[in-house]
Amino acid sequence: MLKHFPVLFLILLLPSLVSARWIDDIAVIENSAVGTVAFSHYQHLEALGKNCVFCHNEVFNIDPQKNQPVSMAEMAKGQSCGACHNGQKAFTVAENCASCHPLGDIVFNVAEGDASFSHEVHTEMYSCSDCHPDLFIPDRSRNQRVSMDEMSAGASCGACHDGDTAFSVDENCSSCHAME
Ligand code: HEC
Ligand code: HEC
Ligand code: HEC
Ligand code: HEC
Ligand code: HEC
Ligand code: HEC
Repeated sequence: MLKHFPVLFLILLLPSLVSARWIDDIAVIENSAVGTVAFSHYQHLEALGKNCVFCHNEVFNIDPQKNQPVSMAEMAKGQSCGACHNGQKAFTVAENCASCHPLGDIVFNVAEGDASFSHEVHTEMYSCSDCHPDLFIPDRSRNQRVSMDEMSAGASCGACHDGDTAFSVDENCSSCHAME
């Protein structure tokens, strides 16, 4: 047994060397609504064994052009990432949004002083569905710009920043805006 150890070791090591060298770790999936989603080959090969055919080419074609965009609703029914991320083989797409979607800070360009929104701060208190998609479609280009008057009346940030649930949009200008 022992004298086979180096051979065994090589056999086990080889696939990881091959995958590490020959394919890029991160495949970036472009989505028109949410920007980009990063997929890590290395983490998956680690979790699944070095088994390319789990995904190629039935679930994903290695040619990105050949993959149609898939909605979260379709994923929840077992397509794309949802083939495994169903709460059984791997964590479900019905939750864990932030595991796959990077949540950066959002800057709203305002002439009087840009306004900033932090996902990090808000997702400690709320879940995604408290804001998406009713208050904000998670796609910048599809949301109408909102005025401060509309916010005071309860739109956008004003749904919570009403002086009750959170500090009011009628004051505290510099809490959100880069202005004195
Ligand atoms: C858990 C699923 C999964 C496994 C297993 C997997 N891949 Fe992928 N692979 C993907 C996804 C997702 C993409 C991105 C597809 C897209 O962009 O539409 C991709 C893309 C690729 C691409 C194109 C890369 C690019 O940047 O355009 C190649 C090449 C590839 N995979 C090779 C492999 C090989 C070789 C293996 C086995 C060692 C493997 N994959 C295992 C999911 C997987
Ligand atoms: C063939 C099955 C399979 C497919 C398809 C698949 N995954 Fe996974 N994924 C797994 C398994 C198994 C794990 C590890 C177990 C877990 O974390 O629940 C995992 C873990 C992950 C993790 C956590 C990685 C870490 O360790 O931090 C992310 C993020 C992820 N997957 C994203 C994706 C995305 C995005 C897609 C679609 C583009 C996808 N996966 C498609 C099986 C799959
Ligand atoms: C396992 C990884 C994964 C998880 C978990 C996940 N997503 Fe996604 N999501 C993706 C990928 C990949 C795409 C892009 C798919 C494409 O373009 O084919 C996407 C696309 C989307 C889209 C645009 C398509 C659509 O359905 O309108 C929205 C919005 C979205 N995700 C929101 C969410 C929310 C909210 C959650 C949590 C409830 C979530 N996602 C959980 C991987 C994930
Ligand atoms: C308190 C409200 C709130 C919560 C909670 C929230 N978001 Fe957002 N999200 C926003 C706002 C505001 C925007 C920016 C909308 C715009 O630009 O018009 C945004 C934008 C996005 C975008 C687009 C990113 C971009 O750069 O434009 C994605 C993706 C997203 N959110 C995903 C999520 C996910 C996933 C969760 C849960 C983990 C979540 N959000 C929780 C308010 C929220
Ligand atoms: C779903 C409710 C909700 C929505 C929608 C919401 N917020 Fe908040 N926000 C809160 C709560 C609750 C707090 C913490 C309580 C407080 O500070 O009064 C908070 C805190 C903040 C803070 C202080 C964060 C810190 O660093 O301590 C800023 C800045 C902020 N929100 C900006 C925004 C902006 C900009 C928007 C709109 C794009 C927005 N919020 C939408 C509930 C919300
Ligand atoms: C909770 C965060 C928040 C607070 C507090 C806040 N704003 Fe805003 N404000 C925003 C966001 C976000 C936008 C951009 C909205 C959009 O484009 O959809 C905005 C837009 C604006 C605009 C451009 C739209 C318009 O109505 O003309 C002005 C000017 C403005 N704010 C001034 C103020 C002043 C003055 C105060 C204090 C009385 C204030 N804001 C308080 C978040 C806030």
